[in-house]
Amino acid sequence: MFKLLAYFTLAAIFMLTTNGFMFSHKEKCQISVYKGGKDFSGDKIMANKSFIPYLKSIGAVAKGCNVRIHVVGSYKQLKTPTEYVLSSQMPLALGRGIYFDLQNPKGSTVCNKLCMTTHSWKTLPEAACFIDNVQKKGVKFTEPNLLHDGYTSKASTSEIEALKVATQKLCAPKTKG
Ligand SMILES: *[C@@H]1O[C@H](CO)[C@@H](O)[C@H](O)[C@H]1NC(C)=O
Repeated sequence: MFKLLAYFTLAAIFMLTTNGFMFSHKEKCQISVYKGGKDFSGDKIMANKSFIPYLKSIGAVAKGCNVRIHVVGSYKQLKTPTEYVLSSQMPLALGRGIYFDLQNPKGSTVCNKLCMTTHSWKTLPEAACFIDNVQKKGVKFTEPNLLHDGYTSKASTSEIEALKVATQKLCAPKTKG
């Protein structure tokens, strides 16, 4: 009788720990809110873990150039993981980029999308300071207004698509039922 009880107790402990082990190794969504502080304004920033160091560089360069990053887009949850995404928008489907414009510390626009596409930023000292220096820190700037980590220009289309589908599935809001 005692032996049997001991056996069941051990079996129960074994099952619990194995499940716990499996649970802790289950893949989790890596996208979370990034609180950038006063070097950022605008939309809430949602980013993948791997993009956080880039956001830190972006904030530091902005501060040094006396501008503020006004965020107009970051991680985008798609309707379905397999939804087609233009390559110019892929960094946002991966949580590895932001759309932005530049403001001064008081919140007036220094350089918007038009200013960036027309290259007027080159003639605005603060904007030129930001865009030149952020690229020296390894952040990629793609016209009109995308800052990203460059992953989508290095990896193959199929690798990118696989990562997109996996991330979008993991990060999809849980539906009831
Ligand atoms: C998110 O970041 C993690 C950790 O750095 C990385 O392993 C993963 O591939 C990234 N996911 C995406 C979609 O970039």
